[in-house]
Amino acid sequence: MSKHIRLLDPGIETSYEIKTGFSPDNLVTIFPGDCLELLNGIPDETAGLVVTSPPYNIGKPYEKKLDLDIYLEQQDKVIAECVRVLSRTGSICWQVGNYVNNGEIIPLDILLYDCFKKHGLKMRNRIVWHFEHGLHCSRRFSGRYEVIIWFTKTDNYTFNLDPVRVPQKYPGKKHFKGPRAGEYSCNPLGKNPGDKWTIPNVKHNHIEKTVHPCQFPVELIERLVLSMTAPGDLVVDPFIGVGSTAVASLRHNRRAAGAEVLEEYLEIAHERIKKAMAGTLRTRPMYKPVYAPRGNLKLTQNPTKREDGR
Ligand SMILES: C[S@@+](CC[C@H](N)C(=O)[O-])C[C@H]1O[C@@H](n2cnc3c(N)ncnc32)[C@H](O)[C@@H]1O
Repeated sequence: MSKHIRLLDPGIETSYEIKTGFSPDNLVTIFPGDCLELLNGIPDETAGLVVTSPPYNIGKPYEKKLDLDIYLEQQDKVIAECVRVLSRTGSICWQVGNYVNNGEIIPLDILLYDCFKKHGLKMRNRIVWHFEHGLHCSRRFSGRYEVIIWFTKTDNYTFNLDPVRVPQKYPGKKHFKGPRAGEYSCNPLGKNPGDKWTIPNVKHNHIEKTVHPCQFPVELIERLVLSMTAPGDLVVDPFIGVGSTAVASLRHNRRAAGAEVLEEYLEIAHERIKKAMAGTLRTRPMYKPVYAPRGNLKLTQNPTKREDGR
């Protein structure tokens, strides 16, 4: 057994095989086909977390660009099923960017908000995922963030901050007067990471890069899994692509289930999951500092030069 994967519970019989049909006893299910078929087979209120990045309808190799209304109708059906399978203490995280039409951008989270609200879900955060790489736009500022909209089914939802705390800006800070003088004024375990996360997206030289054009960085999902679920919980990703959600979940002793329609991505998902189970999948470590260019690098533009040349 790998050092990353532990038994869910010594009393629970489980298999490390990747199953293609869902059963609550599976450690990992990768359904080869439409996500609605996978979701139909998952019993009501059994998933601790549903996390996904759906197709954005922008004409990526794996999607046919649809009329926006038809796209939203399809998303609505998937979201309804996700709400059905979500446990009373569970969370749904929908990670989306913009739909782009002839240069006009339409933020998908705004369009999808009502699909969640009409089921009585409550939004807990709109997390801004900030990254540095992407298309360079010439007629607008280049897009360098997407969002994760996080909803819960009830007010009694699982949320653990301690496993995802980040270092304080001034870690050793203490009260200097009053009854608590000399005691730490901040939480020694670190601070709340906030709702703006800078995590490199998977492009070019990223260690996790596969042929998939928009895979999740595993560390992004690890943060959600650790804060929103408990060991043994089921994490569902209806659009699992190359299996990043399963990798992040298994790493932390959670069960995973997802669907993918394209054979090429399914094969990669299987490979990555097997490697993750064997402890040999290389991923960017959580909390590795983000590269910051040194101040002494040559600038390509003189910042003091004005347009009028003065
Ligand atoms: C934005 S990508 C998700 C990538 C994923 N987060 C990862 O880390 O690899 C969306 C994926 O959904 C798949 N897909 C599209 N329609 C689907 C459907 N109806 N059921 C299941 N998967 C689908 C696409 O092939 C694509 O790989």
